[in-house]
Amino acid sequence: MRGPSSKISDRGAARFETCLAQQVDLCCALETLADALPSHVDTKAATLLAETLEDSLHHCHQIEENFIFPAILTARPGMLATITRLRAEHVEDEEQACEVKDAIMAFVIRQKRKDVEEFGYLLRGLFVALRRHLAFDRDYVLPLYRRTDAASNITNQPRSPED
Ligand SMILES: [Fe+2]
Repeated sequence: MRGPSSKISDRGAARFETCLAQQVDLCCALETLADALPSHVDTKAATLLAETLEDSLHHCHQIEENFIFPAILTARPGMLATITRLRAEHVEDEEQACEVKDAIMAFVIRQKRKDVEEFGYLLRGLFVALRRHLAFDRDYVLPLYRRTDAASNITNQPRSPED
């Protein structure tokens, strides 16, 4: 039987998975926009992407940094260097998202259609880096968080009278 702490951690894992899926969707939207340049851009979708990109990414990073990383570090302090690197990647991705947002606004809303190649390069730079980060989050950080949860459940199990 799993204790109350596991329910909290299950919710943490579920929230983390939802955030990973949201970020995958952002990558798909960025790639769709890049592939549509210069003349097949869905301006409504691009505008929506520009309006939501920074906040969505920041929200997902906050979930990871406020719930997932502290749990992992409590169980495995030796992970500090890796977690520090992941936090730095979050900062880099959010800074790049800010640039991308401005570039989308310039292209779609203000009709600045010069430097399309540079715009495409900026979009690809973000979704390629973000996908690489998400693959590590999905394949390594999420399972590690789940194992941390499982280990804490074993430790926190009430002992039976026979023990
Ligand atoms: Fe992350």
